[in-house]
Amino acid sequence: MAQDAYVVAFDTANEVVAIGIGRVCGACATACTLDDIVATREVAAHRASNTVLLAQLDEALAEAGVAKADIAAVVCGRGPGSFTGVRICMATAKGAASALEVPLFGVSTLDAVVWNAWASGVRGRVMCAADAMRKEVYPALFDVTDEGVRRLTTDTVVKAVDAPAWLAEATALVDGDASVQGVTPLIMGDGLAKYRTVFEPEGRIADEALWGVSGRGLLLAPRSGGDPATLLPVYTRLSDAEENERIRLSKEHEGKNLHTGVQLFDGSQDAAHPTYRPLDAAHAADVACLEQEVMGSDAWSAASVEDELPRKDRTWWAAFDGERLAGYCGGWIVDGQVQILKIATHPAYRRRGIAAELIALVADDARNLGASTMSLEVRASNAGAQTFYERMGLHAVGTRPRYYSDREDAVIMEGPLPQFRRDVAGMRLHVDDVAGPAPTADGEAASQAASRAKRAPLILAIESSCDETAASVVDGSGAILSDVVASQIDFHSRFGGVVPEIASRKHIEAICGVCDECLESAARSLGASRVRWRDLDAVAVTYAPGLVGALVVGVAFAKGAAWGADVPLIAVNHLEGHLYANKIATPDIKPPMVVSLVSGGHTMLVHVRDWGDYVTMGSTIDDAVGEAFDKVAKALGLGYPGGPIISKLAAKGDPKAIDFPRALMHSGDLRFSLSGLKTAVTTYIQKEQQAGRELNMPDIAASFQQAVVDVQVKKAMAALDETGAREFCVGGGVSANPGLRAAYEAACKKRGVRLSLPPLSACGDQAAMIALVALDRYRHGAFADLTLDVKAHAPLDEAY
Ligand code: KG4
Ligand code: ZN
Repeated sequence: MAQDAYVVAFDTANEVVAIGIGRVCGACATACTLDDIVATREVAAHRASNTVLLAQLDEALAEAGVAKADIAAVVCGRGPGSFTGVRICMATAKGAASALEVPLFGVSTLDAVVWNAWASGVRGRVMCAADAMRKEVYPALFDVTDEGVRRLTTDTVVKAVDAPAWLAEATALVDGDASVQGVTPLIMGDGLAKYRTVFEPEGRIADEALWGVSGRGLLLAPRSGGDPATLLPVYTRLSDAEENERIRLSKEHEGKNLHTGVQLFDGSQDAAHPTYRPLDAAHAADVACLEQEVMGSDAWSAASVEDELPRKDRTWWAAFDGERLAGYCGGWIVDGQVQILKIATHPAYRRRGIAAELIALVADDARNLGASTMSLEVRASNAGAQTFYERMGLHAVGTRPRYYSDREDAVIMEGPLPQFRRDVAGMRLHVDDVAGPAPTADGEAASQAASRAKRAPLILAIESSCDETAASVVDGSGAILSDVVASQIDFHSRFGGVVPEIASRKHIEAICGVCDECLESAARSLGASRVRWRDLDAVAVTYAPGLVGALVVGVAFAKGAAWGADVPLIAVNHLEGHLYANKIATPDIKPPMVVSLVSGGHTMLVHVRDWGDYVTMGSTIDDAVGEAFDKVAKALGLGYPGGPIISKLAAKGDPKAIDFPRALMHSGDLRFSLSGLKTAVTTYIQKEQQAGRELNMPDIAASFQQAVVDVQVKKAMAALDETGAREFCVGGGVSANPGLRAAYEAACKKRGVRLSLPPLSACGDQAAMIALVALDRYRHGAFADLTLDVKAHAPLDEAY
């Protein structure tokens, strides 16, 4: 007998958790009708939607008598709204839909508000204005009739005080001459809570009950998407860091810092691997030059290119080979579409995929600025280019007769925003299949199941605390079956450090792709045809410490997946992960021991009395070790992250050349201080430069590194003395430093203490280490519940 099928919809874009459950009639891609609605609820959550959402969803399902097995689709609000709020909703939805193996659809949070008003009997012109923080609102206009809701404007963000001007302009555009009579809208949306006085003169203010998102509105609003991997939030703006960069670049008349940017090619793929950066004013003349070469009389001048750069609705990217401009692409975002204004590659750099990457970068920005489609013009005679765009998903929609100055026609092509061709969301994906035992010869399902049972528990762990989106599967023996890392470094390096908002955005773009790849890779290791979420025995995730907005994506996704697959959830402290990374190379490592945790955010010595029983003996009172490496590299103009760059340079320098301070070396305790050392290095650099001497970079790097290493080793040995431990290990990004590793090898050998070091691949952030902690937790039955939230700080000493 056919079961009833249901769709669950939720939204946490604002201060309210809204949930709706509806019956699916026909395709689940079609919005519900009023008759389909089974249950709805709205709960004030303020900033706690991550803790409340799944518990509320369970209650709503129970109340409606709907089982998880009856869920045929998940629908989530895409915003616009609070960035973190939208990501909590969407990450949970992505996890749930993936594990339930059902499609995921998105609805506009603003549409949902207005559809609820429709259901309440509102008719006529409606303006919805959601709070966008920073004294801004997300406005949109709608016409509401008996038939339903018609949206009249695309998503955008405006200053609250400018909302009346926006309304006048939008009304004029929508109504043309009719606007003379002035259509006054009914105004709703949670922007009214802060800016009621701004809106009051502009129309009638709706009843407050209609301002927010509701389960009913979510079910009635039109849906889009279907694939959990590709659904993304509506932001309508770039991160602050990117916005500020655009302004700076548009004024920057000297080409600087050409060597950091988005590096979408590995050297192995191509002899030349250009660096991609937003275009700056310094290269406007180069663009004009190339324009002359490839566009002839349709070429733009340097002045017109420069004029483009500071505009908020434009995005321009360029590819550089060293100092040389290899290509550029500019787009104009208008009415939810990015129109490609210019795209060109230098003839010497053709056929290397540069144009495709430039378009993907422009499309990526355009998506963040609120676009969902792309359009461009191409010469009618240029069949090659047309084929190229067709492969990208665009198709011809018409022509512009005699568009070019030589009177050739242009073909207009349109389509969805193209994606990056490489890996996940343009990030480099590192996949390690770790070979399991020989696959079963016959490959029968039964024997696969048997061999899988032997390997229980299978745990998938997720890590998203900083700028790596990672997933790993471990089996009951502690063997890592898959280890997948998508590194965002390329998207942060030109800012000289991790930009939290970019990190969060990239996590939500990558999380499904990384987890899918992880499950496929685990299947390969097991010799199984497939590993599904429901085959797992638990889902684990890093919940602390780290960047809150980054952690939230992993935690919400993991909770959604654990909920969907009906398996337990395990919460892991990132620092404990770095400790456990030592088990990869030294499986028999055993407490009591001392671990030194040295990363971009932490520097500490911890007494590991037992697994799970930690006493922090001392930590840094200011900067972390990795942070010091990064800051010194920045001072030397060497790019980000600094650790690997400095350690390579240091290998060629004299560690005794400069006597940098070793702070707290003789303090008699286990505290560290690194900010003085960083200042000493920058002061030294300034003095040398003032004296007109050329900097000896290798010597500076080697001497700085030695100062760090000396203190680290001295204090670590003191910690071993204090505890009497016979085992020592290191964890965190800085444990990859060859100088530090060598110094520890010598010092531990001298003392007869056993030293363990993580393999180089497990020094930085990955999820294998999280999976290993999770396995221990699993054995102790230490599970988290679905109210789990993230924490920016969480000492290891506290049991959790
Ligand atoms: O553990 P991790 O990947 O992320 C955090 O949890 O912070 O550590 C990253 C830090 C960065 O500051 C980076 O510069 C540093 O580790 N690092 C190194 C080396 N490789 C990475 N520091 C010194 N020498 C290295 N070879
Ligand atoms: Zn780390």
